[in-house]
Amino acid sequence: MKKKVISLLLVAVCVFSMAACGSKKEDSSTGDSGDATKKEKLVMATNAEFPPYEFYEGKDVVGIDADIAAAVAEEMGMELEIEDMAFDSIITAVTSGKADIGAAGMTVTEDRLENVDFTDTYATATQVIIVKEDSAITGPDELNGKKIGVQLGTTGDIYADDIEDATVERYNKGFEAVQALQQGKIDAVVIDGEPAKEFVKEAEGLKILDEAFTEEEYAIAVKKGNDELKEKINDALANLKDSGKLDEIVAKYISADSAE
Ligand code: ARG
Repeated sequence: MKKKVISLLLVAVCVFSMAACGSKKEDSSTGDSGDATKKEKLVMATNAEFPPYEFYEGKDVVGIDADIAAAVAEEMGMELEIEDMAFDSIITAVTSGKADIGAAGMTVTEDRLENVDFTDTYATATQVIIVKEDSAITGPDELNGKKIGVQLGTTGDIYADDIEDATVERYNKGFEAVQALQQGKIDAVVIDGEPAKEFVKEAEGLKILDEAFTEEEYAIAVKKGNDELKEKINDALANLKDSGKLDEIVAKYISADSAE
């Protein structure tokens, strides 16, 4: 009789801890309260000022990154939680463990690779130049000595910084740079192509120059050395690519005729 009770208990323990057993060998599973109904959280750090990748719809953060991360979390049997913050806080959030991943249209760069690891890439992007419709500036070569607006801490910021004699005005939000351009406070904005299209749609009298700056690749940042999480995300991303779900998400936010 006693034996039976014990084995039943063992089964119960197994069922309760299954979620933890199946996913991670982390020490957190030992201190688990054993709530099998609650999914483990995947916390995503982002900066929701970057349509169509992340932006607010009411009080929800939506967009390509939000949908991809939710689909990745689902593949991993986890539940996504989004933390909105300044763009230049995302890497720190990931390195400190405040967030598990950084997904923010984030370009893979050598500098960032010193602090975080990146998953496989899920999108290619460009840096473009926005000017006023009547601007004399026609390409990157004519930005020397100009006032250039960027979002603080982005690759656009890094490029603009390299332009000879240019003054770089750094804004917390990309759209603030676009508004400053509209108001004639600056001469150009350097920013990622897809948000540029969204911003120019919303701000009259501006255009995007044909000549783009660079090709870049977006990926999800994870804590350095967390290969287990990185590989799980890569597997999930591969599944989403194979099943067509990734294309579906992109198509939901970017119309085919405007996609690069
Ligand atoms: N791709 C650029 C970078 O990685 C800009 C990303 C900005 N993202 C955002 N969510 N505000 O620096």
